[in-house]
Amino acid sequence: MFSRLLRVQAIAALQNNGKNLSTSAQSNAKVAVCGASGGIGQPLSLLLKQSPMVTELSLYDIVHTPGVAADLSHIDSNSNVKGFAGPEQLRDALKGADIVIIPAGVPRKPGMTRDDLFNTNASIVRDLAQACAEACPKALIGIISNPVNSTVPIASEVLQKAGVYDPNRVFGVSTLDVVRANAFIGQAKNIDPQSVNVPVVGGHSGVTIIPLISQCKPSVSFPNDQLKALTERIQEAGTEVVKAKAGAGSATLSMAYAGARFAFSLLRALKGEQNIVECAYVRSNITEAKYFSTPLLLGPNGIQKNLGLGSLSDFENQLLKAAIPELKKNIQKGEDFVNKSK
Ligand SMILES: NC(=O)c1ccc[n+]([C@@H]2O[C@H](COP(=O)([O-])OP(=O)(O)OC[C@H]3O[C@@H](n4cnc5c(N)ncnc54)[C@H](O)[C@@H]3O)[C@@H](O)[C@H]2O)c1
Repeated sequence: MFSRLLRVQAIAALQNNGKNLSTSAQSNAKVAVCGASGGIGQPLSLLLKQSPMVTELSLYDIVHTPGVAADLSHIDSNSNVKGFAGPEQLRDALKGADIVIIPAGVPRKPGMTRDDLFNTNASIVRDLAQACAEACPKALIGIISNPVNSTVPIASEVLQKAGVYDPNRVFGVSTLDVVRANAFIGQAKNIDPQSVNVPVVGGHSGVTIIPLISQCKPSVSFPNDQLKALTERIQEAGTEVVKAKAGAGSATLSMAYAGARFAFSLLRALKGEQNIVECAYVRSNITEAKYFSTPLLLGPNGIQKNLGLGSLSDFENQLLKAAIPELKKNIQKGEDFVNKSK
């Protein structure tokens, strides 16, 4: 009984951006996970299965989903889980989905950049986006597959060509960068990371990851050398995990946590809860880069308002300057992939 209570409290905290334990009213929602058998997909599906906000959980992968679905279906939460395996079952998996989360594709090994994953993951995301266009054109789509800086433009181009693109509904999931920044600042300042909120803007790779520590709540300050080291640690945190896993993949558990947090925020916004804000990598006119992550006010139709960059310190302006050319290159590469492969 006690452990059940702890579990319910833990999931309630996550569903409220990890910031408090209040729960909210329920509604029906179908969530599909594409890549559900993977290192991220399985723990992400577990977290989604525990949520009372999810009534139908659809697990798609090219392998193992019948087993993952059978396993999760024994959890005594009030959602229906179904597994779908292989491209011939993909459209059934997506049909009627309100939210589609995509962690499909290969992860990094030591020495690889996220861009090195492009050749494999670009076509995976392209094909999944095409299926979304046909089976659930109104779904909110969260893309975890790397390189996010390019896979979001790929999905957007595919949806555009299919005539169903709504830029307010397509998100690159960069929540893990925010979660990491919160964790590292909490550790550095000896404060509860759950009470820290740092916007992380830009993209999701190396120099394109821009933590806005000057806007951290609560307000924190660091000497210049520490600020630089902390910023670089946030930018390279994924590589820290890739190295520690020594060939066994990249972040999976923290990514599942972050992915679930993002999905829960979309779900809460879908059912009309107010003031839901998350950073995500989206179509944007905030900077010269066509896609850019900033804090977003979420609503029932996805992005309700882009909250923009706010005011940046000189240091953050330098980071922004370094990020833009790399982002533009990554975006162009994604767009070219779709436009030249058709
Ligand atoms: N956005 C982020 O912050 C972030 C963080 C960590 C990892 N990632 C990325 O997430 C992706 C997945 O990582 P992982 O560790 O779970 O990898 P993984 O190899 O453990 O799992 C990937 C899953 O995708 C499945 N898959 C492959 N092709 C597919 C297709 N066409 N349709 C559906 N499923 C398919 C595989 O069968 C596998 O189950 C990688 O691209 C990784 O770089 C992103």
